[in-house]
Amino acid sequence: MDRIIINGGNPLQGEVAISGMKNAALPIVFACILTKSKCVIENIPLISDVALAIKIIEAMGGAIRYIDETTVEIDTTDLCGGVAPDDLVNKMRASTYLLGAELGRFGYSKIGLPGGCNFGNRPIDQHIKGFQALGADVIIHDNKIVASTPNGVHSGSIYFDITSVGATINAMMAAVLAPGLTVIENAACEPHIVDLANFFNTCGANITGAGTNVIKIRGVEELHGCTYEIIPDMIEAGTFMTAVAATTGSIKIMNIIPKHLESITAKLRDMGVVVNEFDDYLEVTAGPLLKPTFVQTKPYPGFPTDMHPQFTALMCLANGESTMTENVFENRFKYVDELKKMGANIDTDGRIARIHGRADLKGAEVISVDLRAGAAMIVAGLAAKGETVVTNIELIRRGYQDIVEKFRSLGADISEIID
Ligand code: UD1
Repeated sequence: MDRIIINGGNPLQGEVAISGMKNAALPIVFACILTKSKCVIENIPLISDVALAIKIIEAMGGAIRYIDETTVEIDTTDLCGGVAPDDLVNKMRASTYLLGAELGRFGYSKIGLPGGCNFGNRPIDQHIKGFQALGADVIIHDNKIVASTPNGVHSGSIYFDITSVGATINAMMAAVLAPGLTVIENAACEPHIVDLANFFNTCGANITGAGTNVIKIRGVEELHGCTYEIIPDMIEAGTFMTAVAATTGSIKIMNIIPKHLESITAKLRDMGVVVNEFDDYLEVTAGPLLKPTFVQTKPYPGFPTDMHPQFTALMCLANGESTMTENVFENRFKYVDELKKMGANIDTDGRIARIHGRADLKGAEVISVDLRAGAAMIVAGLAAKGETVVTNIELIRRGYQDIVEKFRSLGADISEIID
């Protein structure tokens, strides 16, 4: 069984460079389908979810060429729609983006039910609402989602009942080539939505308003290929910020956009951590004593749900009671039992976790129950006394490039055993 072994207690010191953002790379790889040509994508993170997305494109007839480790050329000229293999599609959530991309290009999409982290029920009603507003019929039958537009995709007005990253991205995919003006209201504002819009616009699209909750898309006849660099991963950066605070260290976090990290920076400052911002890097230094705080996850620019487990791990070390309220997903607390194995004192009640701080975390054998939960186990293990063994680490590989090597370069005693 592959595992990560950590001997905690070393304060992190030095410099770490952040990789390209998972949640921007995934839609952009699928968005290449709509260009019907060659795109060169730079700053691609070397993580298994992105490798999987690229494999899906290849299985559909796309031509893939790695120019260097983090630059890939994706040629979708000869791609076929509706043929993505189920055994690849059902391994991740972002496969849903195939629906929007295929609808936009072929007017038809058929995919197996997507997988991904299990945070409770993850419906796609808003994705479907967006497709229907653009003229598509959508049915779910025999473990397949089929979307089709008998009269071709047209523009439309979409009002989302809730703010959904995935539904916003899928609507953008389906609308970018649809004749006329599409308006998406109550759109998600995440930096990866802006990155996708920037990618499309570089390919000749006409999208305005990305980053606000109203996005306007004037459909263009066709897109062309381009060279595009993915933005840095704010969740990876936030994970390192949390880890340095947990280990009473001091590090520089390079190759980032500090603005994307504001909610995390603000909460760390509340806890007494010193965060100095520069153009494209941060200096993070733990304070003498971690103060308790309260966090509520919200869509961007609120505190990201994908930083919740790592932050709970940090709160275990604070001097008093903290609370973590999960507002985005209905069931994201499965990792709490794993933290308890390390001595954490946490009560959960519905969407709220009360973290009784100053826990004397000690190493234990823990399971990575999902991607960010796995990162939380690493944060806790780096701070704990003794040996922590984290299993189920393939989930961590879905979203973190070279996480073990990066922490080791900062002075952590951490290694990966591959069986
Ligand atoms: C994306 C991210 C994930 C992140 C999440 C929230 C990717 C590949 N994944 O997931 O890492 O945690 O955004 O920032 O980018 N919902 C519905 N109906 C829908 C769609 C969503 O009810 O049709 C609900 C979800 O169950 C959840 C909330 O809306 O409660 C937000 O989900 P959403 O923003 O869509 O998350 P994902 O796109 O799945």
